[in-house]
Parts: sequence; structure tokens; C-alpha cells
Amino acid sequence: MILEALNYAATWPLTSAGHRPFIRSSVNLWARANRCRVAWAEHERQTKAAILKAAEGCRQRRTVVVLGSGLLRDVPVVDLSRLFDTVVLVDLVHLASVRSWIAMKGLKTVRLIDRDVSGLEALLAGQPLEPLSFLRQVPYLDLVVSANLLSQIGIGVARRLGGQPPEDDRIRQVIAAHIAGLEQVSAASCLVTDVSYTVIDRGGLGHETVDLMQCVDLGTPSASWDWPVIPFGEESRDYRIVHRVIAR
Ligand SMILES: C[S@@+](CC[C@H](N)C(=O)[O-])C[C@H]1O[C@@H](n2cnc3c(N)ncnc32)[C@H](O)[C@@H]1O
Repeated sequence: MILEALNYAATWPLTSAGHRPFIRSSVNLWARANRCRVAWAEHERQTKAAILKAAEGCRQRRTVVVLGSGLLRDVPVVDLSRLFDTVVLVDLVHLASVRSWIAMKGLKTVRLIDRDVSGLEALLAGQPLEPLSFLRQVPYLDLVVSANLLSQIGIGVARRLGGQPPEDDRIRQVIAAHIAGLEQVSAASCLVTDVSYTVIDRGGLGHETVDLMQCVDLGTPSASWDWPVIPFGEESRDYRIVHRVIAR
């Protein structure tokens, strides 16, 4: 609790006013990831492997952009900074703990951008939904990685729309716009995202499965695996929640 408060306080002055409301959820994610590190380890390893495979497949390796870089738990940032001239990390917020880790590792070619990549503001303003159009301004872009971000965009938008049914078409639109943005960018892309989750009881019985992609077609995955996001004891002794993750 004290470490969380310190991380929160240290991140506050480093974050613009518009992005400060997101510090709390990032600190909460940091705390949960630490508590669940054993359960999450295999998912983090598989995500890193998918990103590295995409990186090594790039003919040129000048700039890589990682969307949803977050806590850098599932992003092989040291390898990326070895492979690429510049690594750009994009998230709603970058915690002080993450910033100091980057400095401690001496990763001098890593740049941080605080940005909402959902496109919700444009959607609400009736403007064209092109949430990844800013990537056109990134010089020498060779790879874009979406790192366990897309489901969170959908959840964040649903929360912002407040009280709307989960099948609100606007959630589907922002998810589809992210996929379209990755497909249209003139660089290679690597998408890793959880696509659904299932609530499972102690007897192994699945009670409810929820589609996090709102039926948007992501194409054929090159790999998929389970991510036990909520192990037994995290929220309840009686159930766990397992997310299905795909890489493409
Ligand atoms: C499950 S975490 C990803 C974990 C991260 N790749 C890591 O290695 O720790 C989802 C991340 O997406 C970010 N995020 C959620 N909505 C976003 C948005 N609209 N724009 C940018 N980042 C967003 C969150 O801040 C969080 O860091």
C-alpha cells in the first residue's frame, strides 16, 4: 500500500493534467501484476515471444512503436532497444516506477508518449475515427506493436460511455478502428490481445464466457494461449477468471 502511494505520488508531477486520472488504474494494475506474477508469467513470456518474432521478421529495424506499453511486463523492451534504433512507448500514463526502470537500464533510445489511442474523443465529436493516424507522423516506422491493449480500449470506452449496454456499437467501432489502423499503417504490425474471458469454478466448470472483441473479426491468429488474469484467491476463493489471448 505504501509503495503504491509512493508510485502514485511520484507519477503525478510527471504526468499532464489530462492524463492524471489514469494514474490510479495503472498503479492498481502494477499492484495486481505483482500479486499475480506467478500466474501471469507464462502469458508474459508468450507475449514477449510473439513481439520478438515480429521484430526479428522486420527487414529494416529503425523505429518500433509499442501501443499499451504500460508496465513493460510483457514487452521485451531491452531486446527491442537492441534491435531497433528507436523504441517509442505509447500509453495513457507511464508510471514513475517504469520511468526509473528505463533510466536504470540505460535505455537511451526509448521515448515515452502519453496518449489515448482509443479515438473515443473523435467518435463523440462526430469526426472520422482514425485513432492510429498519428503513426503517419512517426519517421522511419518499421513495426507497430499493440501489446495487450485492445480489450482495455473496449472496456475503457464502455466505462466512459457509462450505463450504455456492453453491445453499444461505438465500442465495436473503436475496436474495429484499431484493427483497421494496424492494417493500414505502412509498417509491419503485431497484435497481441485477450479476446474473451471465462469464469471458472473450483470444479473446473465454466460459468460464463464474455467476448471482449464485440464480434469484431481479428483474422487468423498465429498463436493463442490462456492468461489466468484472476487466479483463485485474487477476487474469490470460489472462482478464477481465465482470458483467451491471441497473437497476430
Ligand atoms: C493489460 S495492460 C498492458 C500491459 C503492458 N503491455 C505491460 O507490459 O505491462 C493495458 C494497458 O493499456 C493501457 N491503455 C488502456 N486504454 C488505453 C488507451 N485508450 N490509450 C492508450 N493506452 C491505453 C493501460 O494504461 C495499460 O497500461
